[in-house]
Amino acid sequence: MLLNGHNVAIPIDSGRENEGILRISNQFCHLFFQSTLLSPSLSISIFPAWVGLEVVRCNVARMPDEIFARMRMDGMSVSLQEFEAELVVLRDRVNSCLTHYVMPHADCPSRLQESMAYSLLGGGKRLRPILVLLACEACGGSFEAAMPAACAIEMIHTYSLIHDDLPAMDNDDYRRGRLTNHKVFGEGMAILAGDALLTLAFEVIARDIRPGEVAAACCADLASAAGWCGMVGGQVADLEAEQDLKQHPPTEFARQEHDAAKIRDDLAKLEAIHRRKTGRLLCSAVTLGARVAEANADSLSRLESFGKNVGLAFQIADDLLDVTGDAAKLGKNVGKDASLGKMTYPGLLGVDPSRRKADDLITEACGLLDSFGRRADKLAELARFVAKRDH
Ligand code: IPE
Ligand code: IPE
Ligand code: MG
Ligand code: MG
Ligand code: MG
Repeated sequence: MLLNGHNVAIPIDSGRENEGILRISNQFCHLFFQSTLLSPSLSISIFPAWVGLEVVRCNVARMPDEIFARMRMDGMSVSLQEFEAELVVLRDRVNSCLTHYVMPHADCPSRLQESMAYSLLGGGKRLRPILVLLACEACGGSFEAAMPAACAIEMIHTYSLIHDDLPAMDNDDYRRGRLTNHKVFGEGMAILAGDALLTLAFEVIARDIRPGEVAAACCADLASAAGWCGMVGGQVADLEAEQDLKQHPPTEFARQEHDAAKIRDDLAKLEAIHRRKTGRLLCSAVTLGARVAEANADSLSRLESFGKNVGLAFQIADDLLDVTGDAAKLGKNVGKDASLGKMTYPGLLGVDPSRRKADDLITEACGLLDSFGRRADKLAELARFVAKRDH
């Protein structure tokens, strides 16, 4: 076994007769294949190309002790390792269910199914579905019961990304380490694949969540978060702010004066955009989990406040990553917000104050979980990951 920083090269036996490199990043364990010899003790699933490399995710929960021992030597804390191992396992479970939901169907045009599956199954952190599962767990519910809602929210998130990347919106060429949907399938198909994922999400919840009253409550929650007063409304406000900045760029005088009142106004406007375009859906992930577990009103309301904080922190982190992040890790281009003239937290507040704001939101969010006890530990851990992530 070779150790090189956070990269661990291990011989693994997969029948592919190559050697793999297990790269332990702060957030994920990825197997980047040079060649492969997979160990039978590793449960492996193969994912599509990620930044030009074939990526294989492994079930770290079943990793040999020796590897964990090496990870400790490599400076990672044991609890972080354990949590990351759980994230990988949960992501794998979500991915299997998503795959099942977008299998080819006799009545669906094959190109549409391919376009939907291309974006839905093409990577992604799966933060929203994992939030659904962990919130459900925090309220005493099971992952199985919450899985349809977890998949549904990922479908809506994926549709929002396909549309967000369109030339009429952010005009992006890369997403999740691959060409954007419209670059591969054309704009018409990308719009329709997004539409189909949006509607499929509600079909899945209405059909697969039990009992019917809980399914109805989940549909109403998700529709409200994703719709005109939620994510779609926020995307409109985001576009309007971008157009406004183009039409009325700040004068040199205003820039130099650092007009405090203007900054305050802009920050209030930006917070309202972020809370809707991203925050509402993230918050809905948390409340969907609570609804499936049939949580009481007090738990639901605490989790809603938790979700609001995490949602805003998430978009602040996204803004920061557009300035400080690494395109290869992110799987999408960086520096786009400034080039489009978007209003962002680092743009208005600067990098360090934005980071502090995200951290404060997460600290406050985690405080709201105290009454849930140990059952909410993983939910709190995931919230901390949201602010600290590098992709
Ligand atoms: C990116 O979301 C888009 C925003 C809402 C900021 P994620 O960072 O969760 O993207 P994936 O799902 O991991 O690709
Ligand atoms: C996207 O926000 C929000 C939604 C898709 C609803 P961004 O435009 O900042 O997301 P990225 O940076 O393209 O992933
Ligand atoms: Mg956008
Ligand atoms: Mg975008
Ligand atoms: Mg962004």
